[in-house]
Amino acid sequence: MQTKEIRIIVHEYSGLDELSETDRQLVLQAREAALKAYAPYSGFQVGAAVRLANEVVLSGNNQENAAYPTGLCAERTVLFYANANYPEVPVQTLAVTARNSTGLVHEPVKPCGGCRQALLEIEARFQQKIKVILDGEKAIWVLNGVESLLPFSFKPSSLS
Ligand code: THU
Repeated sequence: MQTKEIRIIVHEYSGLDELSETDRQLVLQAREAALKAYAPYSGFQVGAAVRLANEVVLSGNNQENAAYPTGLCAERTVLFYANANYPEVPVQTLAVTARNSTGLVHEPVKPCGGCRQALLEIEARFQQKIKVILDGEKAIWVLNGVESLLPFSFKPSSLS
């Protein structure tokens, strides 16, 4: 028997001021998008913003539905929009934020499993790591690549 350790590196920032200007702007776009989320059932408003390799910035938010599974997370809303409209352009950075009835979440927001899987597909598609910024009141986490969010993943290469 062997025990293996998998290292996940998370860069923790204490707030927006510590981020680079481009990352700060992206988080601000995500925060703005969260305010426009359609989340009448959960009351949990998520905002996501992506910066593409051509410097285009797009944002999206969660879209809920009375038939709950029909709704879509903020991350996938913006990622699918990006891929639909810029199919040749890699996604460089994704910023995610969330707010509840009291405002910005305290801990950095954690993307759901489905969104992690969608992110992984995009990394594989463009062969380029995506920087992921997870926003929160207490701290902002930055991960350089989706592998850190989803180790042991099933990815396109798993099919061969
Ligand atoms: N949600 C997201 O938008 N992204 C995530 O990664 C986690 C959850 C949304 C889905 C639903 O509208 C609400 O948050 C509560 O789960």
